[in-house]
Amino acid sequence: MSDEGNSNPAQPQQPTATKLQTPIGIHDILPEDHEYFTFIKKVVRHRARQCGFRRITTPIFEFTEVFQRGIGNSTDIVDKEMYTFTDKGGRSLTLKPEGTAGVIRSYIENGMKELPQPVQLYYIEPHFRYDKPQKGRYRQFWQFGIEIIGESDPALDAQIIDFANRINDDLGIAHLFSIQINNIGCPKCRAKYKEELVNFYIGKERSLCEDCRNRLHKNPLRLLDCKAEDCRILAELAPKFEQYRCPTCVEFHTKLKGYLDELKLEYVENSKLVRGLDYYTGTVFEFWDKTEGAQNAIGGGGRYDGLAELMGGIPTPGVGYSGGLERIIAHMKKEGITVPSKDDLHVFVAQLGDDAKRKSLTLMNQLRERGIKTVGALGKGSMKAQMRLADKFKVPYTLIMGITEVREGVVIVRGMAKGQQKAVPFDQVVEEVVKLIGEENLDNYTPGEVLY
Ligand code: HAM
Repeated sequence: MSDEGNSNPAQPQQPTATKLQTPIGIHDILPEDHEYFTFIKKVVRHRARQCGFRRITTPIFEFTEVFQRGIGNSTDIVDKEMYTFTDKGGRSLTLKPEGTAGVIRSYIENGMKELPQPVQLYYIEPHFRYDKPQKGRYRQFWQFGIEIIGESDPALDAQIIDFANRINDDLGIAHLFSIQINNIGCPKCRAKYKEELVNFYIGKERSLCEDCRNRLHKNPLRLLDCKAEDCRILAELAPKFEQYRCPTCVEFHTKLKGYLDELKLEYVENSKLVRGLDYYTGTVFEFWDKTEGAQNAIGGGGRYDGLAELMGGIPTPGVGYSGGLERIIAHMKKEGITVPSKDDLHVFVAQLGDDAKRKSLTLMNQLRERGIKTVGALGKGSMKAQMRLADKFKVPYTLIMGITEVREGVVIVRGMAKGQQKAVPFDQVVEEVVKLIGEENLDNYTPGEVLY
């Protein structure tokens, strides 16, 4: 940082304006974490391509109705957690709290029914929920998600669960999670079950937490997965869904379990798993931390055969999953899993004098074009200050150009580990550096490759 304008460089000036911060529950993704993000995105893209998923990005905000209709008015997400605002035209818009509703809106709007079915889509996006910020719970968070739309078969549900598990496995954290599964029935058998649940809870309202008392008639299934102590005790005693599943749902669920066995995936049958979004029908599942349980599930999903109709489309089944990137990264770090860093620099260019500075601009471009990751401190004054900076960047090589080197048409190549150096003609220096760092270590961009 420059000391320019500071009358007493020994005593840095105090800022006069108040320091600005991110809103609560919202975080910067700093360079260290970006390496994890990049790695996870690569794994997801690679696995998605292997299975024929194609990428979709829906808008960051949509008409509020997309989420109200899709996720359901009686859910916590729609009821309490949406970032909703009115635009200058008086329209109600909402930052997307999850990905599935927008994907189905897009499927319908863009006539994807005409494509070969099922349509397989994936996304890696930020989402927004006015959640209570705590460990693993933020107001802006990233999810990757996959959706298979247009077919209903338990083999697809099994494939989605397998995909999610495979991603966790690729990231080295699959062993930390148990796969919890349930089948919450079709609208017919679920209606009967909901009725029985309400009957069970009536008269016991005083033992319920405030949220559950409010949810009892609106969304009784949610009472089963409430974390409050008394609600949990009551949920244990509540009627189980197994007794109310219709034969079609029983058969679907039995087949799913058979496919999971075939794929050698261990799972836990959890009759209290209901998920927090209203669009689910039939299969629901979550990946639970084996030590923390339902708290901070790393991902979840399920089947949503009625969603397209709710969104104004023709009946179209679907099944999907989303995983939370911040929670995945927290688990990777806890396990001591590091990811390859592509940010390590190869070369620092130090220069002194106007001519050298001018020449170093071209040199840096030539180095970078060849795939050599290069920085230079063009604003820095003394050679000593620049060399100190080169040390801080931990570069293996520094290229030095002063007045003499410019006159002689050479660049000094200095190996930072041992301090040995030699003068190389200007037009040969790029290939000299390539030799030193090795062709295989260059950071080259292949046109057509998706980078980020
Ligand atoms: P979800 O269970 O609401 O499902 O979210 C999926 C994952 O997103 C969670 O398991 C968690 O890892 C992450 N997540 C959710 N909220 C937060 C938060 N406030 N802070 C940090 N991470 C969070 C869905 O969103 C469904 N759309 C999944 C799906 C796709 N179902 C079918 N297809």
